[in-house]
Amino acid sequence: MANIGTDILLAKQLLERGGVIGIPTETVYGLAANAYDEVAVSKIFDIKQRPKSNPLILHIHRIEQMTDLVKEFPMQAEKLAKHCWPGPLTLLLPKKLIIPDVVTAASEKVAIRIPNHPITLQLLQALSFPLAAPSANPFGYISPTTPEHVQEQLGEQIPYILAGGACEVGVESTIVGFENEQPVIYRLGGLRVELIEEIVGPAVFATKNIALGAFIEKPAAPGNFLQHYSPKKPLKLGVMSELLERYRHKKVGILVFDKYYEEIDKEQQILLTPSSNLEEAAHNLFAALRKLDQLPVEIILSTYVPNIGLGRTINDRLVRASAR
Ligand code: TXA
Ligand code: MG
Repeated sequence: MANIGTDILLAKQLLERGGVIGIPTETVYGLAANAYDEVAVSKIFDIKQRPKSNPLILHIHRIEQMTDLVKEFPMQAEKLAKHCWPGPLTLLLPKKLIIPDVVTAASEKVAIRIPNHPITLQLLQALSFPLAAPSANPFGYISPTTPEHVQEQLGEQIPYILAGGACEVGVESTIVGFENEQPVIYRLGGLRVELIEEIVGPAVFATKNIALGAFIEKPAAPGNFLQHYSPKKPLKLGVMSELLERYRHKKVGILVFDKYYEEIDKEQQILLTPSSNLEEAAHNLFAALRKLDQLPVEIILSTYVPNIGLGRTINDRLVRASAR
């Protein structure tokens, strides 16, 4: 099993020797390796059982590092970065040769962000290379938001998990590219589209599946598969009264937005946000899905949440989690 701790020096040493470790970020826990070391990066794919066609995000600590990594840093992209970094924003930009193909799945573009987590920022400052890190879950499963989530699933395969508490944001970063200085959203995430638009103007969506919360099958970004973030148990989305009627012969677990269903045993329900706050719901979403997956139920039921702000991201994840 992996050790869980807060030893930044040990984390640094393991990474410098080509190791793969768990790291905290404000969005979800990452599975990190030296981005310049192809062998180390390959280990990430093996551990996650992730297809090599699915590129990884680079994590840096200073905006000045962008000069080493990208060929162009469009004005609007830089403006957005200055507003939002460190934070749940990933920029997709033309890459320089220094970044190995294994990181970007041979794409000309690279995804980069500065995570907003004090421990990981300290670690990144101590390193002479960026960290490539996907979410620290087996491919397709729910992303981890605590060190224990990482331990449960990947603990056997990594030596160390740098602990940084429960992730504040709780859903992955928003991925944004630029075309002719216009923002293009590749993945909904922890940064609200509305805020992006306030800073850099109207955004377009890379494909309809993102604009509509993943209703259409075509992947928007490589690796942005429709089925993703999935519990092992089937998850059904819709109007709760109809779902309850349809699955009345099954043992159901319910993901509840802001108010328990009175006719149903509370033990079968996990409440996201008693105060109807979408940030709080996002913060609790993945842990709630994991709990439901572990309850003695056959099927998980959920409604959509209000489709604004982080609600759009939550709906996107729910649609993907329910796709089979
Ligand atoms: O919040 C996050 O972004 C977390 C934390 C750990 O930073 N990371 C994360 O990584 O969610 P991951 O690997 O689970 O998702 C990365 C996604 C890929 O599935 C792909 O859709 C997109 O980012 N991506 C990465 N590099 C890309 C590239 N070069 N071109 C297009 N899409 C890319
Ligand atoms: Mg992931």
